[in-house]
Amino acid sequence: MAEMYDKLKTIELRKKHVGPSCKVFFSHDPIKIVRAKGQYMYDENGERYLDCINNVAHVGHSHPDVVRAGAKQMELLNTNSRFLHDNLVQYAQRLQATLPDKLSVCYFVNSGSEANDLALRLAWQYTGHKDIITLDHAYHGHVSSLIAISPYKFHQLGEAEQDSGVMW
Ligand SMILES: Cc1ncc(COP(=O)(O)O)c(C=O)c1O
Repeated sequence: MAEMYDKLKTIELRKKHVGPSCKVFFSHDPIKIVRAKGQYMYDENGERYLDCINNVAHVGHSHPDVVRAGAKQMELLNTNSRFLHDNLVQYAQRLQATLPDKLSVCYFVNSGSEANDLALRLAWQYTGHKDIITLDHAYHGHVSSLIAISPYKFHQLGEAEQDSGVMW
């Protein structure tokens, strides 16, 4: 593993190298997470946090099956989805087996932002309408199409709000 910096150095380097619009959580006292397992994340001092905020790890952090499958696949091949490969169609089949027959077509994406951007385009195409209802405080992702329909586009965030741990 790379050298572990103390938290102040990490903050200083983040300020230098990471764009300021990518806000850190709890910016008055940011948490430095160094590992995670199951539902828990741990900071550099071994302090344990119940993860109720990070929506990436659907089956828990560092799930051994996911880690094994990811490593095995990366050892073999990592391409985009425009080449033919059995894994892609087999995965689609497995997903479809859990869904109603009509839902038989899959689009594989890399993030929530991509999924929501695609959902928008599908809805526009299907309905022929462009109206959108967005709930206050909703977050749909970081791409331009989603920022355009997001509440924060309509609110001018003050410093206090920007500092409250909100990510955008
Ligand atoms: C409700 C919701 N939608 C969309 C997204 C965007 O997902 P991603 O960060 O994978 O692009 C997030 C991410 O936090 C989210 O919480």
